[in-house]
Amino acid sequence: MNYVLDKILIDGELIKKRVKELGEQITRDYAGKQPITLCILRGAIPFFADLIREIDLPVTVDTITVSSYGSGTTAGKLKVISDMRTDVKGRDVIVVDDIIDSGKTSLALNNMLAERGAVSVATCALLDKPSRRVVDIKGDYVGFSIPDEFVVGYGLDWNEKFRNLPHVYTLKEDK
Ligand code: IMP
Ligand code: MG
Repeated sequence: MNYVLDKILIDGELIKKRVKELGEQITRDYAGKQPITLCILRGAIPFFADLIREIDLPVTVDTITVSSYGSGTTAGKLKVISDMRTDVKGRDVIVVDDIIDSGKTSLALNNMLAERGAVSVATCALLDKPSRRVVDIKGDYVGFSIPDEFVVGYGLDWNEKFRNLPHVYTLKEDK
């Protein structure tokens, strides 16, 4: 099956406004601290780049590439494909992701960071699909809650396509 763009679900200008709000909220919540902002590659790239410029704190910037696999309602195993470089021991970490879907990736990653000695781990996601959740996790900072629809753009892909689009779109079958 091939998919093509259907319609804009969230306009880039609206995303920009919301990202500014999230950055301001993080700036207030972490006042006096120097959190690590951790970009989950590759889906969070545009969101992360925009968000960190709205955070008025001396953040440490790092990236990680992970994939989670596992069945049922457990976080499952987290495969670290390319690890971060900063030592999280004793640090506050803000994990920045594109979307929380089942929640398994977030939960497994948060567990790993806690095991490594992070003092606090917060999850910041551009999008959230609460109706798809299978594990008990919620985003601490969420841009937009969306219905159970597959979306692309502003970092999110279908088959590695559409990540560079400025808006978030729904897809439709190419007939
Ligand atoms: P989960 O929360 O562990 O199920 O995994 C979330 C990951 O699945 C995200 O980081 C995305 O890479 C991918 N994903 C989930 N829903 C979508 C979508 O609607 N569009 C594109 N990628 C998605
Ligand atoms: Mg992802």
